[in-house]
Amino acid sequence: MTTSPLAELSSHVAELLHRVQLAATLEELLADEPFITGKRSILSSLQKSLGALAPEDRKAAGAQLQEARREVEDAFAQRRSVLEEARRALALEADRLDLGDVVIAHVATPLSVGHPGIVAATQRQLEDVFVSMGFKVSDGPEVESDWYNFEALNIPPAHPARGMWDTFYVDLGEPETVVLRTHTSPTQIHLMEEAVTAGTLPIHSVMPGRCYRRDTPDARHLAAFHQIEGLVVDRGITFADLAGVIETFTHAYFGADISSRLRPAFFPFTEPSAEFEITCTICRGEGCRTCSQTGWIELGGCGMLDPAVFEAVGIDAEEWSGFAFGFGIDRCAQMRHQIADMRALIENDVRFLRQFS
Ligand code: FA5
Repeated sequence: MTTSPLAELSSHVAELLHRVQLAATLEELLADEPFITGKRSILSSLQKSLGALAPEDRKAAGAQLQEARREVEDAFAQRRSVLEEARRALALEADRLDLGDVVIAHVATPLSVGHPGIVAATQRQLEDVFVSMGFKVSDGPEVESDWYNFEALNIPPAHPARGMWDTFYVDLGEPETVVLRTHTSPTQIHLMEEAVTAGTLPIHSVMPGRCYRRDTPDARHLAAFHQIEGLVVDRGITFADLAGVIETFTHAYFGADISSRLRPAFFPFTEPSAEFEITCTICRGEGCRTCSQTGWIELGGCGMLDPAVFEAVGIDAEEWSGFAFGFGIDRCAQMRHQIADMRALIENDVRFLRQFS
């Protein structure tokens, strides 16, 4: 009597199921696959041996072996999905960003809140002083035509005053040459033209903004700086009004203990003209590097509006008179905060900037 090749089938299946569970990693399981369910497994050998059975026994043995194979394959597939899941979890763990730490790190770093730069803050303070004196605040373009920056201000081509205000020219061909404005005085022209067109004279305005010059930066100069222009056009305005406004401004902005003076000067668009100076706040008038040993610092120019300017904008100089001034905003900040070298304003050294928060 021959023993059935499937006599040991249940113990083979038990062994295969044990082998499946023994695989600790996906790699181990897959490496063992040929010996568990593949060509080199006992199941495949048994399959081949069924050929030796009598035809009437083969069918039942085949079904029995098929059942055993299904059980082992199910166990294999189940183990495989467990190991694959474990692999995914491991990969996720490796990629994990600990948001808890990140959030704590951000909260723990004190957020620094910025503050207006010293020049912007000074501009606002100057505007406040002039608004309290009855002036309105206006502005004008930083890029001007030659007409507004020079000619309408009584500075024709080849006038020697152009040398003082040399700048960056963009020649667009006839008729206009375009310049980065060298001062805020062209805003005077815009305001007067607008008021003439709209019939809204008189004017009492200040016009702050950025200007550009081909100046070499030093303790008192920058190539891009700021001015605040003042313009008054009204009836019966005299030099005493101008002097009074300047003195009131000096005391309001710098305090009563700062002396100021007006020195005769020349500007093509004002007549008479003056330079406005205050005692150097770095040396209190003793003389230092900042004030070139003079004890005084020039803050701006001023004067009575020249009839040639009135004529350029179509204002009747018999009926109207007025004055204008242009102060350096960076210079005002420098003197108010006793900054020995103006270049500190543009170096962006936070140790310097923090002092003015
Ligand atoms: C003018 O620019 C005239 N437009 C001022 C004026 C207006 C006169 C209205 C009459 C009537 P000035 O070139 O002197 O003038 O400049 C005026 C002020 O601007 C200076 O006193 C100074 O405070 C400031 N300033 C001039 N150049 C520079 C510069 N390169 N860097 C920083 N501040 C400057």
